Amino acid sequence: MTPAWRPGDRRADVASMLRVDQAGEYGATRIYAGQLAVLGDRHKSSALIAGMAAQEKEHLSHFDALLAARGVRPTILQPFWAVAGHALGAATALIGPAAAMACTAAIEDEIDAHYSEQLAELGDGDAPLSASIERFQADERAHRDAAIEAGAESAFGYPLLYAAIRAGCRAAIELSKRI
Ligand SMILES: [Fe+2]
Ligand SMILES: [Fe+2]
Repeated sequence: MTPAWRPGDRRADVASMLRVDQAGEYGATRIYAGQLAVLGDRHKSSALIAGMAAQEKEHLSHFDALLAARGVRPTILQPFWAVAGHALGAATALIGPAAAMACTAAIEDEIDAHYSEQLAELGDGDAPLSASIERFQADERAHRDAAIEAGAESAFGYPLLYAAIRAGCRAAIELSKRI
């Protein structure tokens, strides 16, 4: 845990936090849309994915509203994440349902860590934002657990797939913080 903010410390850059969170939730909606585009609505994983997708849409609208209310511009990478997220979702679903779940497990582990970092950085500096992040983090953890439950770890090459997607997610986070 990072200690609370003290005079002389750098204040949490809330605009950058909101930008990356909105980008991440947007990316999540695109990943699930890509998976559902491949699996359709009749696959046995479809209902689970659609349920997670609905929660991501709710997370996204919350951050959309926060960006607007606080005058924060979205990342200029939004059009890129639209394509990359959809492609990642579609590609993992094409490999198979277990790979689609492996994708969710990797992404959600990274987002869980990312939200923990933000909560530590915020301290008690922005209670409403921290409350939202805590609520969404609980959802992301539930998505990860559901993905593991649904067989993520049985995906072919799981350790490699997991590590590659998690690293990609980390890179996307770092980019969206900055631009
Ligand atoms: Fe989310
Ligand atoms: Fe999620």
